[in-house]
Amino acid sequence: MAAFATIAASATAEVDRRVREAALGRLLFFDPNLSQPAGQACASCHDPATAFADPDASRPTSKGVHRDRFGSRNTPTARYAAYSPPFHFDRTEGHYVGGQFWDGRAATLEAQAKLPFLDPLEMANPDVAAVVAQVRRAAYAGEFEALHGPGALDDPDRAMARIAAAIAAYERSAELAPFTSKHDAWLQGRAALSERELRGLRLFNDPRKGNCAACHPSQRRPDGGLPLFTDFTYDNLGVPANPDNPFYGLPRVHNPRGQGFVDRGLGAAVKRRAEDGKFKVPTLRNVALTAPYMHNGYFATLRGVVAFYNDRDALPRCRGRLAEAEALRRGCWPAPEVARNVNREEMGRLGLTAAEVDDIVAFLLTLTDGYRPERPALPASPAASAPRSPGAPQP
Ligand code: HEC
Ligand code: HEC
Repeated sequence: MAAFATIAASATAEVDRRVREAALGRLLFFDPNLSQPAGQACASCHDPATAFADPDASRPTSKGVHRDRFGSRNTPTARYAAYSPPFHFDRTEGHYVGGQFWDGRAATLEAQAKLPFLDPLEMANPDVAAVVAQVRRAAYAGEFEALHGPGALDDPDRAMARIAAAIAAYERSAELAPFTSKHDAWLQGRAALSERELRGLRLFNDPRKGNCAACHPSQRRPDGGLPLFTDFTYDNLGVPANPDNPFYGLPRVHNPRGQGFVDRGLGAAVKRRAEDGKFKVPTLRNVALTAPYMHNGYFATLRGVVAFYNDRDALPRCRGRLAEAEALRRGCWPAPEVARNVNREEMGRLGLTAAEVDDIVAFLLTLTDGYRPERPALPASPAASAPRSPGAPQP
């Protein structure tokens, strides 16, 4: 009995420790003093109000703490990022899977969390020591010693590893993975989808129609967990270069190629031309809140995205670089940003009617967390008999 009690007590201590580490990570995530100059937190670009994506949708990419600097890529949601497996090459399937960022160049959340602090286009600290010095001055600094012992922040590299671990613990918490969309409630038998939303879901799943679920799975995962709407693989959809990307206008120190900048995505990260133009399949959870869309924010609207999947290869090629609105107006699509490796099998000529495109968009709007079922107790749908727990994120 005594042994069981000891195990139970140490298990509780372990849970308690994880909760405290996540709470510390939350303080770091929202701390605007960790940029140089002060003023930008992780949460500035990953705001809970917009499902942990950039609340400023007026530009395709995000402003750094230096107001005249912009990144080259659209800020993705940090929600559900914890579910991406560590970056690896799947030998059975013959493709790359998982990791963090659009190109997977950070293998894990811990590796990712160290980078924005030092990115000159983001939080712009000169080095690790500068970040750690700010953390040492914070009101929560003592919590590092409480968790890791005296001198926990003395060595800059070990301190940085602890900072990143705390942020990752927060990103693995339920706050970043609530699983409370209308679609979740429907899968659990606690809400009904409208006729239109159901039509959209069927089109989304049907391999001969939208074929979206081939890369954005919409059903419960094998462990019974609610769907993530990404398989964490990589693809080149042939998204056009975005003429409105402010990164093109940055000085040479930040963008050596100027207007000639081309984002090779995964190909640059793994140094293989066969992967050029491929980007990670993003989750579609909360997509109603996370405009603009795609790695370069080319699309301001979901309707534009679905129209592109539908008729990328059916409409004529636009001449030159055109933004989404102008391409839609003219009824053409510009050339892909990277012409190699474009996926022509699973998209591009879906043959959907305009009404079907709208149905898919209506379905996408059911993926926003925070839905409150109007009537809590509906008769259970067959889907509701599967286990209810969303399952813990993979560490
Ligand atoms: C200036 C805006 C900005 C700030 C500040 C910022 N991020 Fe990001 N974040 C981005 C952008 C842009 C990307 C995508 C970059 C890429 O793919 O190359 C990204 C990607 C991520 C991802 C990967 C998500 C995925 O699905 O691949 C995570 C996780 C993340 N950020 C967490 C953080 C954390 C933690 C901090 C603070 C230490 C932070 N971000 C600060 C803009 C920002
Ligand atoms: C072959 C895999 C594949 C298929 C099929 C697919 N997608 Fe995607 N989807 C991706 C990839 C990869 C991206 C990111 C591409 C990029 O940024 O260049 C993406 C991005 C998106 C985005 C932008 C999300 C964001 O946060 O920026 C939306 C919305 C989307 N897909 C919806 C759909 C819909 C709707 C369908 C079906 C009509 C569909 N997808 C079919 C792979 C796929």
